[in-house]
Amino acid sequence: MRGIAAGPAGDQLDQFATNQFEFIRSLEQYGPAVSIDLGGTETVWLYDIPAIHKLLADKFDHVDMPLLSRRLEVVTGTGLLTNFDWNVWSPRRRIIFRPIGARAVGNFVERMTTLIEERLDTWPLGVPFELEHAVSDMTLRVVADLLFSEDITDEAIAVIGRIVDELHRWSEADPTNANVTDPPESFREALEEADSYIRSVIDARSPDAPVDDLLGVLLAAVDDEGVPIDLQGVRDELITMVLAGHETVTALICFAIDLVGRHPETADADRRHIVDETLRLYPPVHFLPRFVREDFDVGVCELPAGTEVFIPMIQLFRDERYFERADEFLPERWDPDSPLHMERRAYFPFITGPKLCVGSHYALMEGTIALDRFLAKFDFELLEPATPWGREFALTFLPDKPQSIVLERRAAE
Ligand code: HEM
Repeated sequence: MRGIAAGPAGDQLDQFATNQFEFIRSLEQYGPAVSIDLGGTETVWLYDIPAIHKLLADKFDHVDMPLLSRRLEVVTGTGLLTNFDWNVWSPRRRIIFRPIGARAVGNFVERMTTLIEERLDTWPLGVPFELEHAVSDMTLRVVADLLFSEDITDEAIAVIGRIVDELHRWSEADPTNANVTDPPESFREALEEADSYIRSVIDARSPDAPVDDLLGVLLAAVDDEGVPIDLQGVRDELITMVLAGHETVTALICFAIDLVGRHPETADADRRHIVDETLRLYPPVHFLPRFVREDFDVGVCELPAGTEVFIPMIQLFRDERYFERADEFLPERWDPDSPLHMERRAYFPFITGPKLCVGSHYALMEGTIALDRFLAKFDFELLEPATPWGREFALTFLPDKPQSIVLERRAAE
């Protein structure tokens, strides 16, 4: 295997079970591409920025859905995230990007701000509560508004929360075993419940009164031959957007509040800089897998067909070679005039290339507005801040324990 160093094996892999993040960091010492056998799957970890960009630029000629996404695919089906069939993915992607891409996202500012403020105003004052739970409720309502433009009911929140929990439980039970595709019974029940909720939302739509939200766009869309997306496809995209656009933004907001809480001197910093710096230290997608379909020369090495390749964002974004004072929370590094050395190509929390996060503009806007409104409304104390690392091998990089927070209303509001 040209350019690929053999990584730790046997007992040395035990560290993977005890501290996966330190383990991922330690792999880098073996070279720019390191192979390890994880639970019977041949994996290669890439630490070379040009090679990573080459991998991510591929238009599915050499890459395919990662093995680790098979469990997710049971829920998301042909939705964009788990779709690597260029002919199906590409027209759907154009349809979905139009209403939420860079040009259109500004249309949501007012509505999003109102929704966020409404939720923040329900958060209790003077008593401790669990931050992630409250933020998760808020982000779910925001994404539901984008998709269905309607207030999501508490019952629907519970239904979606259940399938997300089940997916976590199933994935975390045996995280490196990529061959598990048969879900437990409780998972099937939760999925059925989520499906029937989404079907009821679709069925409630009248073709005579199209609504201008993402569901409306999907139902009205036709391909080059005038054929609409079938209902299963619409369902797959909706559930994908809920899953992709909910926990990720939750993680961003929770860690941003946590970091500002631990570094009160940053409370007046530019909100977008805080968001960028949070995504650097706590990337919600902290590593990205890809399955190599055909031998792929990425410069520094040749990735052999049949391997699962990992891009360890959590290591790269904290690498001193690319970010001066890498382990410090310094929102000002994002100021264009900052003297701190930074390599922009080494920072890609939404990845790059054709599979670039379709909701990146939406997510950055939501995170910035939520943080800004939160800091404007509240003084806060974190009784239980997050640790330097998140939950291990979870689908999304979330705080590893509940963050207990107490709020006081700011005098200025
Ligand atoms: C801070 C928040 C977010 C982060 C860090 C993030 C990150 C990412 C990353 C890294 C991918 C690539 C995954 C892969 O190719 O395997 C991705 C894909 C995707 N994201 Fe996001 N995301 C965020 C928020 C959102 C939001 C708010 C939405 C929707 C409203 C969304 C929808 C999607 C979809 C549909 C895909 C699949 C795109 C495709 O494959 O064509 N994401 N996201």
